[in-house]
Amino acid sequence: MDSGLENVVAAETVLSDVDGQNGRLVIRGWPIEMLSASMAFEDAAHLVWQGFFDDLPDVRELGARLGAARREVFGLVSELPDGLDVVSFLRAGWALLPDDESLDTAIRLAAAGPVFTAAAIRRAAGDAPIAPDADLSQSADFLRMLTGVVPGQAEARALDAYLVTVCDHGLNASTFAARVVASTRAGLTSAAIAGISALKGPLHGGAPGPVLDMLDAIGEPENAERWIDSALAKGERLMGFGHRVYRVRDPRADALKAAVARLPGTTGRVAFAEHIESAVLGRLARKYPQRRLETNVEFYTALLLEAIGLPREAFTAVFACGRVLGWTAHAREQIEEGRLVRPRSVYKGPVPEMA
Ligand code: ACO
Repeated sequence: MDSGLENVVAAETVLSDVDGQNGRLVIRGWPIEMLSASMAFEDAAHLVWQGFFDDLPDVRELGARLGAARREVFGLVSELPDGLDVVSFLRAGWALLPDDESLDTAIRLAAAGPVFTAAAIRRAAGDAPIAPDADLSQSADFLRMLTGVVPGQAEARALDAYLVTVCDHGLNASTFAARVVASTRAGLTSAAIAGISALKGPLHGGAPGPVLDMLDAIGEPENAERWIDSALAKGERLMGFGHRVYRVRDPRADALKAAVARLPGTTGRVAFAEHIESAVLGRLARKYPQRRLETNVEFYTALLLEAIGLPREAFTAVFACGRVLGWTAHAREQIEEGRLVRPRSVYKGPVPEMA
């Protein structure tokens, strides 16, 4: 029995390799630092989906189809109810899409991420959703649908760096959930909905909003040690630290830190975060000398998304906007594998008395 399944290998994949001992993440043969610094969302979609759809067009046409799909799914926004949190709004929006195993469905899912996320943020603030502009890149349009203003290149580029950095990551909890659902042949939409449902938990993709809550609660650098000691004494987990697979620093943390640092006006915030980070790492090392706990992807995610104007309650949905590439590709890979995922359990309950 292995309740966290950490010693179970449940899939072969060509998509990504997470090397937890050496702190390396490879996506389809490329180191994450290189992809993060150079790729747009459309490039990552092409890279991750290649080989899984016979009808995959080149990057340019794929970008045009993503733009057209953003416009198409925008018509569904008015069908969604008020009062949903951002993740629930995106999940409910995805549930309105066709559910099959085609490239069209993968494109619609990816295109719908920014459309429903931006609409949810605006509706929660009492503002009307803004229709997509199919001619912009997905990241630039995402930020435009939030504010009504076409963003600067630096902001769009930073969002690209984030979405690319999180586009896939081995057999994490949400990707495993997506593969289990895909193995039943339920469709890519069902697989993505399984993925986002697993992602929303604070131990997985729900951490970056609470990272900012922690930075706010600490407030000043001189409060850091006292605040951290008190949280650890209460048995709380410090968000943005620790990982099931990485025994060293998560390479995505540095890729995203570099992306935040490229944005104008972030020097002070990054310096404050670095101070808190080093205080947390020192305290965690003291509390868990046998177990190396390091910074994970969520810590600098929080800083990056904050710097480009996304509200913290939307962070998990924005994560899903990137990871949907991995979920759909893994779903296709699982379908090609052709095996229903069906592990076994050990029964520990009462047994019937035999006469
Ligand atoms: N803060 C305080 N204590 C921690 C933290 C943390 N961030 N992470 C682990 N620990 C503690 C555990 O409570 C455990 O203590 P115990 O033995 O007294 O119970 C010990 O360190 C060992 O825990 P692990 O086995 O390393 O943790 P596990 O692999 O089960 O969990 C997880 C990994 C969920 C990421 C954990 O580190 C955590 O909760 N981190 C905070 C939440 C977070 O940042 N999540 C995002 C992860 S990245 C991603 O999913 C996209």
